[in-house]
Amino acid sequence: MSLAPTLTLNDGNAIPAIGAGTWPLNDDEVREMCLTAFGLGYRLVDTAENYRNEAGVGRAVREAGLPREEVFVTTKINRQWHGDAVAGVRGNLERLGLDYADLVLLHWPNPDQDLYVRAWEGLLEARELGLVKSIGTSNFKPAHLQRIIDATGVAPAVNQLQCNPYTERTAERAYDAEHGIVTESWSPLGAGNGLVGHPAVQEVAAAHDATTAQVLLAWHTQQGLLPIPKSANPGRLAENLAALNVRLADDEIAALTALEDPDYALVDSDVFGH
Ligand SMILES: NC(=O)c1ccc[n+]([C@@H]2O[C@H](COP(=O)([O-])OP(=O)(O)OC[C@H]3O[C@@H](n4cnc5c(N)ncnc54)[C@H](OP(=O)(O)O)[C@@H]3O)[C@@H](O)[C@H]2O)c1
Repeated sequence: MSLAPTLTLNDGNAIPAIGAGTWPLNDDEVREMCLTAFGLGYRLVDTAENYRNEAGVGRAVREAGLPREEVFVTTKINRQWHGDAVAGVRGNLERLGLDYADLVLLHWPNPDQDLYVRAWEGLLEARELGLVKSIGTSNFKPAHLQRIIDATGVAPAVNQLQCNPYTERTAERAYDAEHGIVTESWSPLGAGNGLVGHPAVQEVAAAHDATTAQVLLAWHTQQGLLPIPKSANPGRLAENLAALNVRLADDEIAALTALEDPDYALVDSDVFGH
């Protein structure tokens, strides 16, 4: 078993280059999935308060028999905690049954309540208190990020975005890169919107004796994006991790990039958010 390589975050911490998504698994399903994933070599798991499965993730982390520092647990807080993020993170830890999280994200900017700067200040405090090692954002556009950076001088370590060849988030990724922020891709396989079966993806896959999902995940990792595909299927979990062994040529990455589709169901974080 070989473990995924790591990326170095702007706070100096290391994060595995691929992870396991967990939505919409329940506590029992996620526990089983995590134990399988850890056995295969995954070391990063992505949960959230909103997924209502943090307890199952925490149980798997405790039962896996791995040193705690070998496992990277990401979770997220909901909008209700933007006024008191420390309390939000304490709630995450209670449900996880862990002493600390490796990464906590503000799940959505929720500009309607205009509290995300305060929420970011709260995450900084949670980090100082040792409740979390690294802190970041999710679904933050450049304008949201600029505000928190202007207010605190601290850029997130990670910004988790909906990102795949149908919706590449070019401007958002460029902003993240300029500020040393790792872009983590949610729905990296397109979340069942036909991307995995697309003929152009099949063509690249055939040239590599790889699966279409592996080619899509290589599109992320070779561009420095950190994908967190979700699968509850042991075979697909293994397949997705093995995508790290696929090396695409520049023109193949470009062919996948050309799949950008303005009609893809991109979620607008100025409007939507838990
Ligand atoms: N920050 C946010 O706002 C946000 C929003 C949404 C999601 N997320 C996170 O991102 C994770 C991933 O995103 P997602 O679940 O939306 O989409 P995704 O990972 O792109 O797609 C998941 C779907 O792909 C299937 N799949 C997985 N591996 C496959 C393979 N090798 N071949 C064929 N099909 C495969 C899964 O089915 P099976 O399970 O049957 O294999 C599932 O139906 C979530 O689980 C969650 O942790 C974050």
